[in-house]
Amino acid sequence: MNILLTGGCGYIGSHTAVRLLDYGHEITIVDDFSNAQEFVPDRIKQLTGKDFNLINGDIRNKAILEYIFGQHNIDAVMHFAGLKSVKESIEKPLEYYGVNVSGTINLLEIMGNFGVHKFIFSSSATVYGACNVSPLKENMGRGKTTNPYGKSKAIVERILQDLVTADSRWEVVNLRYFNPIGAHPSGLIGEIPKGTPNNIMPLINQVATGEREYIEIFGNDYPTPDGTCLRDYIHVLDLADGHIASLKGLKKGAMRSFNLGTGHPYSVSELISTYSAINAIKIETRVSKRRDGDIASVFADPRLANETLNWYPSFSLHEMVRDAYNWSIRVKNGMPMNDQQIGDIE
Ligand code: NAD
Ligand code: UD1
Repeated sequence: MNILLTGGCGYIGSHTAVRLLDYGHEITIVDDFSNAQEFVPDRIKQLTGKDFNLINGDIRNKAILEYIFGQHNIDAVMHFAGLKSVKESIEKPLEYYGVNVSGTINLLEIMGNFGVHKFIFSSSATVYGACNVSPLKENMGRGKTTNPYGKSKAIVERILQDLVTADSRWEVVNLRYFNPIGAHPSGLIGEIPKGTPNNIMPLINQVATGEREYIEIFGNDYPTPDGTCLRDYIHVLDLADGHIASLKGLKKGAMRSFNLGTGHPYSVSELISTYSAINAIKIETRVSKRRDGDIASVFADPRLANETLNWYPSFSLHEMVRDAYNWSIRVKNGMPMNDQQIGDIE
């Protein structure tokens, strides 16, 4: 298939691009590089030995989307492009709704105009809200989302549901990601957070590489075995493979939601101690108060994706933290090192 990846040079999109090319698909990427580095397309080519179409553009620009669908014979779209910081979304709600909601509507409109109806969406476990109890299942209702980022994902899910109801030519797979971490084991691609990271793994990486003195553990008084929050961490390559498997889940006139998580929760303390042990690095920690909006325990029931898509994550927590660290030593002060510098480390 020829698959358009919006945001295909970002963290999850770039790993999925590699896997799609490995599996023999053709790909086209549109990315405005607002949160991606210029070197990523070359690294994707280096890892796969394959070329692909790349358009530097913003999904809010309809003319660019029309150009892409007019020039390239696209069969399906994987829609990664979006803004993803919870904290920033509270400060800049219009920007978040503009990209995540209006940008998605633009894309769907132009797809429809060009007769392309296969759509795979990057949603988030955040749509389950605080009231559903883990393990989370797809048939539980969406819960209350408390910030513009989470709301933008829930809004798009509703739009997609209405779209397939109105027009049975649409085939939509809605993927709810749990906590993606890790990087390609080669150390050539990974996550480069913009500004100060919010998510735990880039913060642990910064402590490991000396950019940060310690990591704050947000609360150790939760009703969990060690008092710290439980999350479902998943290797980004398992997540990428989930997208390839999801192509088999496309069905006319249906929007099908799938959890992409391992189903195995780990606590914040376990994550940090495993990272420390596997990479033989001391990670300084300080316990601070709970973070607003955090839920004690969030993990998937992944059986629907396992059974329907024949998708089974394979990376262990050890491999996730190994690959996260391996990537982090190739990034200095938020900037990737060049090939020469990486060669010097190896
Ligand atoms: P990312 O920021 O690394 O990748 C997003 C990509 O989209 C970037 O390359 C960025 O340059 C591009 N982009 C942003 N705005 C754009 C625009 N207007 N036009 C074109 N390109 C644009 O993020 P990611 O972690 O790879 O996440 C991908 C998707 O998955 C996002 O929609 C995100 O909300 C969702 N998601 C991510 C997580 C996570 O923890 N990483 C969890 C749940 C859902
Ligand atoms: C967060 C967002 C969620 C979003 C997801 C992916 C919140 C409340 N939730 O989820 O909406 O979909 O990222 O982008 O922001 N932790 C620490 N110290 C830190 C950072 C995190 O102890 O410095 C803990 C958190 O309390 C949490 C766990 O680590 O228990 C994971 O945090 P994080 O990586 O931010 O992901 P989520 O909170 O699951």
